[in-house]
Amino acid sequence: MKNFILYFIISFLYGINFSENISPIIYNNCTSCHRPNEIGAFLPLENYQDVYDNRSLIAYVIGGSDDIRHDNPLMPPWPPNREFSSLLYERYLEDSEIDTILDWISLGAPQGNLDLEYPIPEFPDGSTLGEPDLIFEMEESHFVEGNYEDDYRCFVFSLDNDQELEMSAIEFRPGNRQAVHHAIITYVPHGAADNLENQDNQYGYECYGGFNLDTTTDLIGGYAPGLSSVEYPENIGRTIPANSDIIVQVHYAPLLTDQEDLSSVNLFFKEESIEREIEQHIFDYWEFALPPNQITTITRTLYVPDDISMVNILPHCHLLGQSWEIYATTSDGTIIPIIQIPFWDFDWQSFYYPEYLLKIPGGSTITATCVYDNTSNNPNNPNSPPSWVYPGDGTNDEMFFIPIEYLDYQIGDENIYLGKIDECLLYGDINSDNGLNVLDVVLLVNSILNNQELSCSDLNLDEVINILDIVLLIEIILG
Ligand code: HEC
Repeated sequence: MKNFILYFIISFLYGINFSENISPIIYNNCTSCHRPNEIGAFLPLENYQDVYDNRSLIAYVIGGSDDIRHDNPLMPPWPPNREFSSLLYERYLEDSEIDTILDWISLGAPQGNLDLEYPIPEFPDGSTLGEPDLIFEMEESHFVEGNYEDDYRCFVFSLDNDQELEMSAIEFRPGNRQAVHHAIITYVPHGAADNLENQDNQYGYECYGGFNLDTTTDLIGGYAPGLSSVEYPENIGRTIPANSDIIVQVHYAPLLTDQEDLSSVNLFFKEESIEREIEQHIFDYWEFALPPNQITTITRTLYVPDDISMVNILPHCHLLGQSWEIYATTSDGTIIPIIQIPFWDFDWQSFYYPEYLLKIPGGSTITATCVYDNTSNNPNNPNSPPSWVYPGDGTNDEMFFIPIEYLDYQIGDENIYLGKIDECLLYGDINSDNGLNVLDVVLLVNSILNNQELSCSDLNLDEVINILDIVLLIEIILG
């Protein structure tokens, strides 16, 4: 029996090939960014040859080799610690998927039968949310010089709204996905940024960390590569006052070639009127100084007087930042983990949503800790040699800045899911080609062997994907 199992494992190992085993992992987890006109366009991963040619680099970024396996894979990019808390749309490879890729590489990375290759998913080109109610386009394209430097630019869009707007979602649509690294959005009274806009003779104005405004404003949305926008569920939403402008700060990534960008913003209105208005609290701190050649830890607390439901959180600091940890402690001492970012990366920040509205009972204290490395060991330190750093908006300043969106708590909020409900139109249609055939059986078998969960796989809806689903699929196909 043992020999048989060994034989099975060995023959399975030798059977690992790109078409059947590797293509679904790469196409589902990497290709959304690693294809032309996307943020990872410099390294397309769209076919066997692409993946074969870059296999050593891929082995490194997904987890290193077996003996130097790093706990924090670089790809797919997902800075928060998934063991600390569960967040919406986490990006990661299962250990078994990492092993499958590493085993495949050590077996010489064979292609297998091209006909069995997993189809590249259809990546949404337009909005990920549907038909927008309003679209604002940049009036002029922004020129990004290929000098390999970061470029931060703010663009103002006049809403021209004589009435308040009830918003269910706001979506930033990068024009040039290769150039746009991330974006944040705020609203201000009409004209509030006019002076800033006239600073230089180019469209928009230069801005770093924030919007360069004198007042703090709510952040109402953002963009990071690979993250879908979130629509506020049910009767929850945000009201934008009459006569507002929207300002978008865009971070253009360092590029080696000149590029142009013409981005746009989509606004979605609530179909019914908003009954529960989203509020934002900015949990910030401005009274610090970071001495040179030192690692400084700043911990701040925020008292929560009444029950709230957290909608999202955006921990934000600059280039000295090393890590974040944020949790709540209830009055009876229970810890509610919110988010932990063990290796802060300025280039990969975003709004983080819990999967379900997260209740924080009144009487709790939220504790946030950020560690800053102002030594020369920090390769991102903007000062060489290190010098005193103070809070502020500029590249050489630091921040301790955490916008939190929340609602007053209502019973049942814990069950309100914040993501998109993944609708399966045809159970068993694993490759989404609108038909059921032997290819789907192969993919289903593989996904079970590789511990993957592909959509439309749970044919008998028993919430586990196993041999029973395969049997059912074969029965359906055989009619
Ligand atoms: C959300 C977008 C995104 C996803 C998903 C993604 N990548 Fe990347 N990848 C990038 C970007 C951007 C870079 C450039 C480095 C950076 O900004 O971190 C990169 C860099 C790389 C590099 C080059 C590293 C180097 O040092 O040159 C490799 C290899 C890579 N990714 C492989 C993968 C693989 C394999 C997957 C899937 C398991 C994946 N990526 C998923 C965006 C992505």
